[in-house]
Amino acid sequence: MSEPILEAVGLRKRFGAVVACDDISVAFGAGELVGVVGPNGAGKTTFVNVVTGYVTPDAGHIRYRGREHDALTPRGAVALGIARSFQHPQLYASLSVLENALIALAVKRKEHASWQPLKRKWALDEGHALLERFALDEVANTEVSQLPEGRRKVLDIALSFALEPSVLLLDEPTSGVSAREKFALMDTVTGVLAQTEMTVLFIEHDMEIVERYAHRVLAFVEGRIIADGRSADVLADARVRELVLGIAEGA
Ligand SMILES: Nc1ncnc2c1ncn2[C@@H]1O[C@H](COP(=O)(O)OP(=O)(O)O)[C@@H](O)[C@H]1O
Ligand SMILES: [Mg+2]
Repeated sequence: MSEPILEAVGLRKRFGAVVACDDISVAFGAGELVGVVGPNGAGKTTFVNVVTGYVTPDAGHIRYRGREHDALTPRGAVALGIARSFQHPQLYASLSVLENALIALAVKRKEHASWQPLKRKWALDEGHALLERFALDEVANTEVSQLPEGRRKVLDIALSFALEPSVLLLDEPTSGVSAREKFALMDTVTGVLAQTEMTVLFIEHDMEIVERYAHRVLAFVEGRIIADGRSADVLADARVRELVLGIAEGA
């Protein structure tokens, strides 16, 4: 890897008796597309929360473009260029898809005004262009509460993308999405991301998705990374098969 863009150095986080993050050190280069796998409770979301400033680590720090950050806030992370999406999309449900896009774009421009004055032609054009990239323009005027879950997830990802981060972390982009829609969702998202140098991590439980889209895979178990490498190698690893995939050896 050339100079890493993002590094986690000795991250630890405990919740009571649970060690959610147990001395995690890992580095990511520009443009990497990394799948994050592991059983429920393995610490995947906690890792994303620490990297994006939603959880303060007990020890360790983040290094971003070579600089140390040990007290990141969510806003601070976005300002650096680290954005995320959530397992459950954080959207304005009673507003339209386009209005959600206009708000995200205003946040990107650091305009915290209400969105009404933002309905100027150039702002609308920018909103539609964003939606077009993510194949959402046909539902631009649909209220978000009326969208199927797959579309809501894509919109949430599009809105984090609109912040123009260098690192984007996606927490279970395909959870709650029908098997039929999952591949289309990932085709759309990875198609857009491939045109950028963004480093992308995505937490995923569906190994067909991981195998198809991730170039590198991290496997988390009990707060630790037990395997990190090329997707095919990690998915074939005996401990990953046992502890993550639940496949007994010899089966
Ligand atoms: N805010 C929190 N308060 C208490 N326990 C938490 C909190 N966040 C996570 N945990 C615990 O930390 C462990 C790791 O959780 P999480 O990071 O959500 O795992 P994953 O995303 O891999 O399913 C779990 O045992 C979970 O219950
Ligand atoms: Mg999780």
